[in-house]
Amino acid sequence: MQIIDGKEVAANLRKEIAAEVEQWVASGHRRPHLVAILVGNDGASQTYVGHKEKCCGEVGFRSTVLRLPEETTEESLLQEIARLNVDPEVDGFIVQLPLPKHISEQKVIEAIDPKKDVDGFHPVNTGRMISGLPAYLPATPDGILELLKYYKIETSGRHCVVIGRSNIVGRPIANLLSQKGWDCTVTLCHSRTKDLKDVVRSGDIVIAALGKAEFVTADMVKEGAVIVDVGITRVPSNKTKSGWKLLGDVKFDEVAPKCSYITPVPGGVGPMTIISLMKNTLKAARKEIYK
Ligand code: GUN
Repeated sequence: MQIIDGKEVAANLRKEIAAEVEQWVASGHRRPHLVAILVGNDGASQTYVGHKEKCCGEVGFRSTVLRLPEETTEESLLQEIARLNVDPEVDGFIVQLPLPKHISEQKVIEAIDPKKDVDGFHPVNTGRMISGLPAYLPATPDGILELLKYYKIETSGRHCVVIGRSNIVGRPIANLLSQKGWDCTVTLCHSRTKDLKDVVRSGDIVIAALGKAEFVTADMVKEGAVIVDVGITRVPSNKTKSGWKLLGDVKFDEVAPKCSYITPVPGGVGPMTIISLMKNTLKAARKEIYK
C-alpha cells in the first residue's frame, strides 16, 4: 500500500509553475494576477483564501484579496464582479464560497466572465469541459487527475466509483475520468443509490466525495483498490491547538491496509486544489483557453 503524498506532489508542481512564471515575466509580460473576493467572516474561507494568497507569492503571481463585509448586497457584489471582468490588470478571479445566505451563489458564478473564471465554476467552462473542449477545470477534480498522473496509476478500462454528485467534485470528476485519455468506466453514486456498498466494492478506483466523515469502511473496499478521499469534515479534538481536526470520508486506518494507493486527510487531495487554481491563473494570463 502506498500513501499518496499530496504535499510532495503539490510542492513539485509549485516549483514547475514558478519556473514557468519567471520565464513568462522574463519574456516581457506582466506578472499573472489573481484576485480573490471574500465576503463575510467564515473561518474556513479565511484560512483557504490565506493559503491561496501565500501560494500566489510562492509561484510569483501578484495577488489581491478583496474583503467585503457580511452585509454586502448581492447587487454590490455583482458590481464588483463586473468591474473585475473588464480590469485589464486582472487575469483571473474567484469568489470564495460559501456566500452569506442573502446572496445567490448561482447568480454570482454566472456573472463572472468565463475567460476569468479560474475556479471553473461558470456553466460555460463546465459545458466546455463536458464537451472535451479546452476549459478551466475545477480545482478538486483537476487535483485528483494530477495525483493519478504523478503516481502513474492506470485508469484505462478500470471501474471508477464516485460517491457524491456535487457540481464541484463528484459530477466533474466522473465526467473527466470517462473521457478519452483516462478511459475509466464510471459509476456515479449518490444518496439514492441502491446497494451502495456492493457498488463501491466493485470499484477499482473509488473517489469518496460525499462529505460524510469516515463513511467508507473496509468492508466496502475491494482488495487492491485505489482510494481517493475528498472529504474534509472538521470535528472537535482535544489533541490539537486549534481545538479541531479534519476527517476524510474514508475510515483511513482500516481501509488503508486493503488498498494499492490511498490519499490521506489532510495531505492528500487538499494541497492539490490550490495548485490547480495556480495552473488556471497562468493559463488565463497566457490566454491559453480563450484566445
Ligand atoms: N470554497 C470551497 N472550495 C472552494 C473553491 O475551490 N473555490 C471557491 N471559490 N470557493 C470555495
